[in-house]
Amino acid sequence: MTAILFLALLQQAPAADRMKVDWERARKIYMANCAGCHGPEGRGGKGADLAVPKLRRAANDEQLFRIILGGIPGTEMPPSWYLGQNSVALVTAYVRKLGAAPDPVRTPGDPAKGKLVYASQSCAGCHDRGFGPPLDEIGIRRSLAHLRQSLEDPAAEVPEEFLMMRATTALGKQITGARLNEDTFTVQITDATGKLHSFRKAELKKLDRLPGASPMPSYKGTLSAAEIDDLVSFLAAQRGGR
Ligand code: HEC
Ligand code: HEC
Repeated sequence: MTAILFLALLQQAPAADRMKVDWERARKIYMANCAGCHGPEGRGGKGADLAVPKLRRAANDEQLFRIILGGIPGTEMPPSWYLGQNSVALVTAYVRKLGAAPDPVRTPGDPAKGKLVYASQSCAGCHDRGFGPPLDEIGIRRSLAHLRQSLEDPAAEVPEEFLMMRATTALGKQITGARLNEDTFTVQITDATGKLHSFRKAELKKLDRLPGASPMPSYKGTLSAAEIDDLVSFLAAQRGGR
Protein backbone atom coordinates (compact mmCIF):
# COMPACT_ATOMS: atom_id res chain seq x y z
CA MET A 1 0.00 0.00 0.00
CA THR A 2 1.28 3.44 -0.78
CA ALA A 3 2.13 5.90 1.95
CA ILE A 4 -0.43 8.32 0.57
CA LEU A 5 -3.28 5.86 0.84
CA PHE A 6 -2.11 5.01 4.33
CA LEU A 7 -2.18 8.68 5.33
CA ALA A 8 -5.58 9.13 3.71
CA LEU A 9 -6.94 6.25 5.77
CA LEU A 10 -5.44 7.76 8.89
CA GLN A 11 -7.07 11.09 8.30
CA GLN A 12 -10.43 9.43 8.00
CA ALA A 13 -9.93 7.51 11.22
CA PRO A 14 -13.36 7.76 12.80
CA ALA A 15 -13.28 8.81 16.43
CA ALA A 16 -14.51 5.85 18.45
CA ASP A 17 -16.75 8.02 20.60
CA ARG A 18 -18.59 9.47 17.59
CA MET A 19 -18.92 6.20 15.74
CA LYS A 20 -21.96 4.00 16.08
CA VAL A 21 -20.40 0.66 16.84
CA ASP A 22 -21.87 -2.65 15.74
CA TRP A 23 -20.34 -4.58 18.65
CA GLU A 24 -21.26 -8.00 17.30
CA ARG A 25 -19.44 -7.28 14.06
CA ALA A 26 -16.52 -5.75 15.94
CA ARG A 27 -16.24 -8.87 18.08
CA LYS A 28 -16.30 -11.13 15.02
CA ILE A 29 -13.52 -9.16 13.32
CA TYR A 30 -11.48 -9.31 16.52
CA MET A 31 -12.07 -13.05 16.95
CA ALA A 32 -11.13 -13.82 13.36
CA ASN A 33 -8.04 -11.62 13.08
CA CYS A 34 -6.64 -10.85 16.50
CA ALA A 35 -7.74 -13.41 19.08
CA GLY A 36 -5.30 -16.01 17.77
CA CYS A 37 -2.44 -13.92 19.13
CA HIS A 38 -4.11 -11.68 21.72
CA GLY A 39 -6.51 -14.20 23.23
CA PRO A 40 -10.33 -14.25 23.07
CA GLU A 41 -10.59 -11.85 26.03
CA GLY A 42 -7.61 -9.82 24.93
CA ARG A 43 -5.60 -11.24 27.78
CA GLY A 44 -2.67 -11.84 25.46
CA GLY A 45 -0.88 -14.91 24.13
CA LYS A 46 1.78 -14.59 21.54
CA GLY A 47 0.61 -10.97 21.37
CA ALA A 48 0.34 -8.33 24.07
CA ASP A 49 -2.29 -8.08 26.80
CA LEU A 50 -4.88 -5.69 25.33
CA ALA A 51 -7.26 -5.74 28.30
CA VAL A 52 -5.37 -2.99 30.09
CA PRO A 53 -6.49 0.56 30.83
CA LYS A 54 -3.38 2.02 29.22
CA LEU A 55 -1.74 0.50 26.17
CA ARG A 56 2.01 0.85 25.98
CA ARG A 57 2.04 1.76 22.30
CA ALA A 58 -1.20 3.66 21.95
CA ALA A 59 -2.04 6.59 24.19
CA ASN A 60 -5.10 7.63 22.15
CA ASP A 61 -7.55 6.26 19.59
CA GLU A 62 -5.66 7.65 16.64
CA GLN A 63 -2.44 5.92 17.63
CA LEU A 64 -4.37 2.74 18.29
CA PHE A 65 -6.01 2.89 14.86
CA ARG A 66 -2.60 3.52 13.30
CA ILE A 67 -1.02 0.50 15.03
CA ILE A 68 -3.85 -1.83 14.08
CA LEU A 69 -3.87 -0.54 10.50
CA GLY A 70 -0.13 -0.61 9.91
CA GLY A 71 1.09 -3.21 12.40
CA ILE A 72 4.26 -2.70 14.41
CA PRO A 73 7.30 -3.07 12.16
CA GLY A 74 10.00 -5.29 13.57
CA THR A 75 7.57 -7.25 15.74
CA GLU A 76 5.14 -10.11 15.14
CA MET A 77 2.24 -7.65 15.07
CA PRO A 78 0.97 -7.68 11.45
CA PRO A 79 -0.77 -4.85 9.58
CA SER A 80 -4.49 -5.18 8.93
CA TRP A 81 -5.22 -2.45 6.41
CA TYR A 82 -6.49 -5.16 4.06
CA LEU A 83 -9.55 -5.53 6.33
CA GLY A 84 -10.65 -2.09 5.18
CA GLN A 85 -10.99 1.15 7.07
CA ASN A 86 -14.38 0.41 8.65
CA SER A 87 -13.33 -2.94 10.04
CA VAL A 88 -10.12 -1.46 11.42
CA ALA A 89 -12.15 1.30 13.07
CA LEU A 90 -14.55 -1.26 14.55
CA VAL A 91 -11.75 -3.39 15.93
CA THR A 92 -10.08 -0.24 17.33
CA ALA A 93 -13.24 0.46 19.29
CA TYR A 94 -13.36 -3.16 20.39
CA VAL A 95 -9.80 -3.03 21.74
CA ARG A 96 -10.70 0.13 23.68
CA LYS A 97 -13.67 -1.71 25.14
CA LEU A 98 -11.48 -4.65 26.18
CA GLY A 99 -9.34 -2.19 28.09
CA ALA A 100 -12.20 -0.20 29.61
CA ALA A 101 -13.26 -2.74 32.20
CA PRO A 102 -10.45 -5.25 32.43
CA ASP A 103 -10.58 -8.12 34.87
CA PRO A 104 -7.63 -7.81 37.18
CA VAL A 105 -4.82 -10.18 36.17
CA ARG A 106 -5.10 -13.09 38.54
CA THR A 107 -1.61 -14.37 38.96
CA PRO A 108 -1.22 -17.83 40.38
CA GLY A 109 1.59 -17.26 42.86
CA ASP A 110 3.63 -14.74 44.80
CA PRO A 111 5.81 -12.40 42.71
CA ALA A 112 8.17 -11.68 45.62
CA LYS A 113 8.92 -15.37 46.00
CA GLY A 114 9.20 -15.63 42.22
CA LYS A 115 11.90 -12.99 42.26
CA LEU A 116 13.92 -15.18 44.62
CA VAL A 117 13.43 -18.20 42.37
CA TYR A 118 14.57 -16.09 39.40
CA ALA A 119 17.71 -15.12 41.31
CA SER A 120 18.41 -18.68 42.46
CA GLN A 121 18.31 -20.10 38.93
CA SER A 122 20.60 -19.05 36.12
CA CYS A 123 17.88 -17.05 34.35
CA ALA A 124 19.79 -13.77 34.46
CA GLY A 125 22.92 -15.45 33.11
CA CYS A 126 21.13 -15.74 29.77
CA HIS A 127 18.44 -13.08 29.92
CA ASP A 128 20.40 -10.14 31.25
CA ARG A 129 23.35 -10.81 28.97
CA GLY A 130 21.66 -10.77 25.59
CA PHE A 131 21.50 -14.52 25.02
CA GLY A 132 17.84 -14.87 25.94
CA PRO A 133 15.36 -12.11 25.02
CA PRO A 134 15.02 -9.23 27.51
CA LEU A 135 12.31 -9.84 30.11
CA ASP A 136 11.82 -6.32 31.50
CA GLU A 137 8.48 -5.87 29.67
CA ILE A 138 7.54 -9.52 29.30
CA GLY A 139 4.42 -9.06 31.47
CA ILE A 140 2.92 -6.69 28.90
CA ARG A 141 3.92 -8.73 25.90
CA ARG A 142 2.88 -12.22 26.95
CA SER A 143 -0.04 -13.95 28.65
CA LEU A 144 0.21 -16.01 31.83
CA ALA A 145 -0.30 -19.17 29.78
CA HIS A 146 2.55 -18.25 27.45
CA LEU A 147 4.85 -17.46 30.40
CA ARG A 148 4.10 -20.81 31.99
CA GLN A 149 4.69 -22.60 28.71
CA SER A 150 8.01 -20.77 28.29
CA LEU A 151 9.18 -22.22 31.61
CA GLU A 152 7.82 -25.72 31.17
CA ASP A 153 8.31 -26.26 27.45
CA PRO A 154 10.59 -23.49 26.07
CA ALA A 155 10.81 -24.91 22.56
CA ALA A 156 7.01 -24.98 22.11
CA GLU A 157 6.80 -21.38 20.90
CA VAL A 158 10.12 -19.77 20.17
CA PRO A 159 9.76 -16.03 19.43
CA GLU A 160 10.06 -15.34 15.70
CA GLU A 161 12.96 -12.93 16.14
CA PHE A 162 15.00 -15.62 17.92
CA LEU A 163 16.97 -18.14 15.87
CA MET A 164 19.54 -20.72 16.92
CA MET A 165 22.36 -21.37 14.47
CA ARG A 166 25.25 -23.80 14.26
CA ALA A 167 28.39 -22.71 12.44
CA THR A 168 30.99 -25.27 11.37
CA THR A 169 34.38 -23.72 10.66
CA ALA A 170 36.79 -24.89 7.98
CA LEU A 171 38.66 -26.77 10.73
CA GLY A 172 35.49 -28.56 11.76
CA LYS A 173 34.91 -26.66 15.01
CA GLN A 174 31.21 -26.17 15.79
CA ILE A 175 29.75 -23.10 17.48
CA THR A 176 26.08 -23.08 18.39
CA GLY A 177 24.33 -19.95 19.54
CA ALA A 178 21.69 -17.32 18.99
CA ARG A 179 21.77 -15.25 15.82
CA LEU A 180 22.52 -11.63 16.62
CA ASN A 181 23.02 -10.24 13.11
CA GLU A 182 23.16 -11.66 9.65
CA ASP A 183 23.65 -10.26 6.17
CA THR A 184 24.56 -11.80 2.84
CA PHE A 185 28.24 -12.21 3.67
CA THR A 186 28.58 -12.33 7.45
CA VAL A 187 26.85 -13.70 10.53
CA GLN A 188 27.23 -12.97 14.25
CA ILE A 189 26.32 -15.58 16.82
CA THR A 190 26.20 -15.28 20.62
CA ASP A 191 27.02 -18.53 22.40
CA ALA A 192 25.54 -19.60 25.74
CA THR A 193 28.37 -17.98 27.69
CA GLY A 194 27.51 -14.64 26.10
CA LYS A 195 30.57 -14.65 23.87
CA LEU A 196 30.14 -13.12 20.44
CA HIS A 197 31.41 -14.97 17.35
CA SER A 198 31.65 -13.24 14.02
CA PHE A 199 32.06 -15.20 10.78
CA ARG A 200 32.43 -14.52 7.10
CA LYS A 201 30.05 -17.01 5.52
CA ALA A 202 32.49 -17.86 2.72
CA GLU A 203 34.98 -19.12 5.32
CA LEU A 204 32.55 -21.52 6.98
CA LYS A 205 32.23 -25.13 6.00
CA LYS A 206 28.57 -25.16 7.01
CA LEU A 207 25.92 -22.91 8.54
CA ASP A 208 22.83 -24.60 9.92
CA ARG A 209 19.64 -22.85 10.96
CA LEU A 210 17.82 -24.51 13.82
CA PRO A 211 14.30 -23.05 13.77
CA GLY A 212 12.21 -24.06 16.77
CA ALA A 213 15.30 -24.99 18.79
CA SER A 214 15.70 -23.42 22.20
CA PRO A 215 18.76 -23.46 24.44
CA MET A 216 16.58 -22.67 27.43
CA PRO A 217 16.15 -25.65 29.75
CA SER A 218 12.68 -26.77 30.82
CA TYR A 219 12.10 -26.12 34.51
CA LYS A 220 9.22 -28.56 34.77
CA GLY A 221 11.02 -31.22 36.80
CA THR A 222 13.59 -28.88 38.33
CA LEU A 223 11.21 -26.47 40.04
CA SER A 224 8.11 -27.35 42.06
CA ALA A 225 4.66 -26.39 40.75
CA ALA A 226 4.48 -23.66 43.41
CA GLU A 227 7.86 -22.24 42.38
CA ILE A 228 6.72 -22.12 38.76
CA ASP A 229 3.53 -20.30 39.83
CA ASP A 230 5.66 -17.78 41.73
CA LEU A 231 7.97 -17.29 38.75
CA VAL A 232 5.00 -16.76 36.39
CA SER A 233 3.69 -14.09 38.81
CA PHE A 234 7.08 -12.41 38.96
CA LEU A 235 7.38 -12.39 35.16
CA ALA A 236 3.81 -11.10 34.73
CA ALA A 237 4.76 -8.15 36.96
CA GLN A 238 7.66 -7.16 34.67
CA ARG A 239 5.97 -4.28 32.89
CA GLY A 240 8.77 -1.92 32.00
CA GLY A 241 8.61 0.04 35.23
CA ARG A 242 4.86 0.62 35.08
C1 HEC B 1 0.64 -12.92 14.65
C2 HEC B 1 0.24 -12.43 15.95
C3 HEC B 1 -0.59 -11.17 16.03
C4 HEC B 1 -1.80 -10.88 15.41
C5 HEC B 1 -2.57 -11.74 14.42
C6 HEC B 1 -2.20 -9.59 15.92
N1 HEC B 1 -1.26 -9.11 16.80
FE1 HEC B 1 -1.36 -7.36 17.82
N2 HEC B 1 0.50 -7.69 18.58
C7 HEC B 1 1.23 -8.84 18.43
C8 HEC B 1 2.47 -8.72 19.16
C9 HEC B 1 3.57 -9.77 19.24
C10 HEC B 1 2.45 -7.45 19.77
C11 HEC B 1 3.54 -6.84 20.66
C12 HEC B 1 4.52 -6.12 19.80
C13 HEC B 1 5.58 -5.47 20.65
O1 HEC B 1 5.29 -4.42 21.21
O2 HEC B 1 6.65 -6.04 20.75
C14 HEC B 1 1.20 -6.83 19.38
C15 HEC B 1 0.80 -5.55 19.78
C16 HEC B 1 -0.45 -5.04 19.59
C17 HEC B 1 -0.90 -3.78 20.11
C18 HEC B 1 -0.09 -2.82 20.97
C19 HEC B 1 -0.24 -3.23 22.43
C20 HEC B 1 0.35 -2.23 23.40
O3 HEC B 1 0.66 -2.66 24.52
O4 HEC B 1 0.49 -1.05 23.07
C21 HEC B 1 -2.21 -3.64 19.74
C22 HEC B 1 -3.12 -2.50 20.07
C23 HEC B 1 -2.55 -4.79 18.95
N3 HEC B 1 -1.46 -5.62 18.87
C24 HEC B 1 -3.80 -5.02 18.38
C25 HEC B 1 -4.08 -6.05 17.48
C26 HEC B 1 -5.33 -6.19 16.77
C27 HEC B 1 -6.54 -5.30 16.98
C28 HEC B 1 -5.20 -7.27 15.96
C29 HEC B 1 -6.20 -7.81 14.96
C30 HEC B 1 -6.64 -6.90 13.93
C31 HEC B 1 -3.88 -7.83 16.17
N4 HEC B 1 -3.23 -7.06 17.10
C32 HEC B 1 -3.38 -8.94 15.54
C33 HEC B 1 0.86 -9.94 17.69
C34 HEC B 1 -0.27 -10.04 16.89
C1 HEC C 1 20.66 -21.15 28.66
C2 HEC C 1 20.07 -19.83 28.60
C3 HEC C 1 18.74 -19.59 29.29
C4 HEC C 1 18.41 -19.81 30.61
C5 HEC C 1 19.26 -20.39 31.71
C6 HEC C 1 17.05 -19.33 30.76
N1 HEC C 1 16.56 -18.87 29.57
FE1 HEC C 1 14.71 -18.14 29.22
N2 HEC C 1 15.07 -18.10 27.22
C7 HEC C 1 16.31 -18.30 26.66
C8 HEC C 1 16.19 -18.14 25.21
C9 HEC C 1 17.32 -18.26 24.21
C10 HEC C 1 14.83 -17.85 24.94
C11 HEC C 1 14.18 -17.59 23.54
C12 HEC C 1 13.84 -18.92 22.90
C13 HEC C 1 12.65 -19.59 23.54
O1 HEC C 1 11.60 -18.96 23.69
O2 HEC C 1 12.77 -20.77 23.90
C14 HEC C 1 14.16 -17.82 26.24
C15 HEC C 1 12.81 -17.55 26.42
C16 HEC C 1 12.25 -17.23 27.65
C17 HEC C 1 10.93 -16.70 27.84
C18 HEC C 1 9.93 -16.39 26.72
C19 HEC C 1 10.29 -15.07 26.10
C20 HEC C 1 9.29 -14.62 25.07
O3 HEC C 1 9.47 -13.52 24.51
O4 HEC C 1 8.31 -15.33 24.82
C21 HEC C 1 10.75 -16.51 29.19
C22 HEC C 1 9.52 -15.98 29.88
C23 HEC C 1 11.96 -16.95 29.85
N3 HEC C 1 12.84 -17.39 28.87
C24 HEC C 1 12.18 -16.93 31.23
C25 HEC C 1 13.26 -17.56 31.85
C26 HEC C 1 13.38 -17.77 33.28
C27 HEC C 1 12.39 -17.27 34.31
C28 HEC C 1 14.53 -18.49 33.48
C29 HEC C 1 15.09 -19.04 34.79
C30 HEC C 1 14.21 -19.86 35.59
C31 HEC C 1 15.15 -18.68 32.18
N4 HEC C 1 14.34 -18.12 31.22
C32 HEC C 1 16.35 -19.34 31.96
C33 HEC C 1 17.49 -18.61 27.31
C34 HEC C 1 17.57 -19.00 28.65
